[in-house]
Amino acid sequence: MEALPPAPAPADSPRLGSLPVQPLLTAEFDADPGAVYRRLRGTYGPVAPVGLMGVPVWLVLDYREVLEVLRNEQQWRRDVRHWRARAQGELPSDWPLLAGYEVRQMMFMDGEEHRAARRTHHTALRPFQDSKSPEGWELRTAVARCADELVALLAAESGRTGFADLSAQYTRPLLLMVTTKLFGCPVDLGDELVMDLWRMLDGGPDAGPATGRALAAFTRLAAHRRARPGDDLTSYLMLADPSLDDEQLGRELFMNAVYLNDITGNMILNTLLEVLRGNATVRRSLSAGQLGETVNRTALVNPPGANMCFRFAARDVRLGEFWIRAGDAVSPSAAAAHQDLLAISSSHMVGSAVSTRAHLGWGAGSHQCPSAARELGSLIVTTAVGRIFEHFTQAELTLPPDQLPWRAGPVVRGLKVLPVRYELAHDAPVLHRPRPELTRTAQQGEGQARGLLAALRRLMFGAKQDE
Ligand code: HEM
Repeated sequence: MEALPPAPAPADSPRLGSLPVQPLLTAEFDADPGAVYRRLRGTYGPVAPVGLMGVPVWLVLDYREVLEVLRNEQQWRRDVRHWRARAQGELPSDWPLLAGYEVRQMMFMDGEEHRAARRTHHTALRPFQDSKSPEGWELRTAVARCADELVALLAAESGRTGFADLSAQYTRPLLLMVTTKLFGCPVDLGDELVMDLWRMLDGGPDAGPATGRALAAFTRLAAHRRARPGDDLTSYLMLADPSLDDEQLGRELFMNAVYLNDITGNMILNTLLEVLRGNATVRRSLSAGQLGETVNRTALVNPPGANMCFRFAARDVRLGEFWIRAGDAVSPSAAAAHQDLLAISSSHMVGSAVSTRAHLGWGAGSHQCPSAARELGSLIVTTAVGRIFEHFTQAELTLPPDQLPWRAGPVVRGLKVLPVRYELAHDAPVLHRPRPELTRTAQQGEGQARGLLAALRRLMFGAKQDE
């Protein structure tokens, strides 16, 4: 770890605002971010100035420097109030990425406030982490059951052989069903919630209203569960910290929903892609039952949280070839750091079945993914991927891997669709009580996912809509 300099940055060292910056988010970045990271590293070294929708920030590219930023919480602060450009009113008021940073929740806290929030989360999540507790057992069973029901729905909708989008028809609804259950939602969460989370993270033109809608939904949920507590994360958060009001609880749920839906969802999709793109090593390790290893490897070569949220320099500090000024924003890039790690590790790593656990897919340091959440995330990913390959005798991409459409955004590396041609095994699950309206709704496609989920949940759990 680099020692903190006793003095401020030399006056003649270039300031972030004075450097010519290239926009990070380009068509090339969407298609091949690795090439962009390589070029930036070649030009600037381990830390590069980039433009994010018109705002300059530092992108931290090399593994050593990323670890330093993640681990040294005294130097690298999370609280957005440390951001000089924001404090001095230099950010455009409609800057699309601002909406997410303005949601003050655990991720954007420092010091004791952050530690207290983590203790609350840990206490509230613990029952779901333990497979022997009723909550943990029930959640595990529900994940597998929902996955099976979605495969059965696919069979009812498209037949035992056919075409499917494993994003819209499997991963997104699965995680919405898990969120509905874990959070104790009295009504089904719809696909439009996921779209709002996408808009916020990707900085879409309507990121502000989308963030507002999602926050309002979770604040309503908090108020509902306060009136009627249950065996769910919302109620347990409330129990663990009775001082949380509905607004703050709504903000914490919102952030958990981002990880549970978007990050976990893209971990599923990136892992499925890793297997489907035909890498023999990965297929071999999967058939050898090493699902966990496949997920681990995916976290290394294609982490869903590609570039982590900003940290803000507490003091002037040298990082890579530059002096970072107090209040500058830096984004630690897990994806670029892994590229660096793979390059400096044995060059045969990529083709090898041996992965490394040095990946930063869970983050590092005080803000890393909480252990209970990691366990939950791993469970969901391995169950979701495992069920697909258990029930499908064949699955192949219908597009060449280099033509798959990726979302355009600075944080998440996520597929818009994962189209496959599949063949189901003879013993794959079937809908026991198929209903014409369910099949009809499903056929109407992605835009109708809310109706699909409502119908599916009625089928699975009975018409208990307002417990
Ligand atoms: C495979 C799935 C998951 C992955 C890859 C993942 C990854 C991460 C990463 C990289 C961070 C650190 C971000 C940073 O430092 O900027 C993080 C933090 C976090 N994750 Fe996860 N996560 C996953 C699943 C989950 C789930 C299921 C939950 C909740 C139910 C969750 C809750 C959280 C929370 C609350 C934080 C913030 C911790 C803090 O700021 O102290 N994660 N996660």
